[in-house]
Amino acid sequence: MKILFASSEIHPLIKTGGLADVAGALPVALRQKGLDIQVIMPAYSGMLEKVSAIHQSVNLGNPFGVGDLHLLQATLPDSELPIYLVQCQSLFEREGGPYLDPQGQDFQDNHLRFAAFSWACAFVAQHGHLLGWQPDILHLNDWQTGFAAAYLKSWKLNHIPIVTTVHNLRYNGSFDLASYPETRLSNELLSLHGMEFYGRYSALKAGLVYADAITTVSPTYAAEILTPAFGDGLDGTLAALRHKLSGILNGVDYNEWSPERDGHIAQQYTANNLDGKLKNKLALQRENNLPERADAVVFGVVSRLTEQKGLDLIPEAIIPALEQGAMLVLLGSGDKALELQYLNLQARFPEQVSIRIGYDEAYSHRLQAGVDVLLIPSRFEPCGLTQLYALKYGTLPLVRHTGGLADTVFEDGPEANGFVFYDASTTALGETIQRALHTFADTERWRTLQTTAMNQDHSWDKACDQWLALYRRLRPDA
Ligand code: ADP
Ligand code: GLC
Repeated sequence: MKILFASSEIHPLIKTGGLADVAGALPVALRQKGLDIQVIMPAYSGMLEKVSAIHQSVNLGNPFGVGDLHLLQATLPDSELPIYLVQCQSLFEREGGPYLDPQGQDFQDNHLRFAAFSWACAFVAQHGHLLGWQPDILHLNDWQTGFAAAYLKSWKLNHIPIVTTVHNLRYNGSFDLASYPETRLSNELLSLHGMEFYGRYSALKAGLVYADAITTVSPTYAAEILTPAFGDGLDGTLAALRHKLSGILNGVDYNEWSPERDGHIAQQYTANNLDGKLKNKLALQRENNLPERADAVVFGVVSRLTEQKGLDLIPEAIIPALEQGAMLVLLGSGDKALELQYLNLQARFPEQVSIRIGYDEAYSHRLQAGVDVLLIPSRFEPCGLTQLYALKYGTLPLVRHTGGLADTVFEDGPEANGFVFYDASTTALGETIQRALHTFADTERWRTLQTTAMNQDHSWDKACDQWLALYRRLRPDA
């Protein structure tokens, strides 16, 4: 079976969040299960130097009048995974990230950039035989690929089954109707049952309404998004489509995220040798000019700083713990007001708080290995990967009970592996931080929790069986 897997970011080429981790690992895992899978992504600046040799280059013409689109075929670094890069100089080769300019603002022409990328995905899905590789299924991820479903719908050619995976409903790729003509899509698709979205048009909605199957990245989030509190205006649409919606939990690429073979960390370790973890803790304290103290509970955060993540609750909730001698180490960037709040906390507790504003893949590994507790107080969390990484490193996650966090972190029972709170309030978070401190004092209990966490299996292998079953349902003939 041939699958075209479309994503706007893929680790290790480019990453802003968990989508890149998924797009870099799930296709590799599915390939090992015998699927013929290729990924497709825009050729942002610097991409061509990061992939291995270009095997094929095809000019797709100039369908948007902004310059030719080229389809380049290469291989993802450190894997056998074939990757198509969609090249268009005027749209993708610029300073900044994949979605934001260097000032952190959305690019003004994101509708056009991702319409063009999606058009190329639809082209390969529809006309792949002309390139020598015809997919049986098109697998879309998030709004950046949603227009592909609209192009396929409007071309009215052979039906190619589409799976759309929602990694985050908050980002719905909706734009002012004035820009709609630039997508070159017909007005026919702008109905209430089409892409129309509160007087705008939404790429994600196109991906949902024109898909044959919709998945999201955890069972709990799949249920949550049917409610107004989590549906971000799409709950009505999703409720009408619930017969094709399911939740498949993400996995972890343990080649990247395992303390026994992690090349980024000070000392490798296993569940049987947790002294190695202590060396990482002391190294992390040293690296951050904090006193080297084994007995101080170190709380950590690795996150995008956005409203979603509930990180505004921590600066107040953690103060009593800091006054009791705990430490906080944060790596993140995003919301400027939040960055400032954390820098102020660091100024107040310079011996206990270390804040690093920025994005640093290697440091994120050292942090996961070095802290005792990873704080994830998310208001909503479609899946969350950092708690899964934490578990493997014997770092106990402290999470709010929502989405994928609710499906993977437990405070009680035989699967207990962390700390859980329910109310998105500083009080509830503060109380849970106190429970973590008390538990840390009980060395035996802490070890048990760590060992349980480290032995839990969140490999992609499990998720692959669910993916294979879904693909087979859509293409029993392939
Ligand atoms: P989301 O996709 O909502 O950001 P996830 O938990 O699914 O949340 O994935 C986040 C990914 O991004 C993880 O791999 C995490 O380690 C990484 N990450 C987040 N912020 C940073 C940062 N500042 N530096 C390095 N890695 C980061
Ligand atoms: C999104 C979500 C996150 C999820 C990731 C990968 O960015 O916010 O919860 O883990 O996608 O699916």
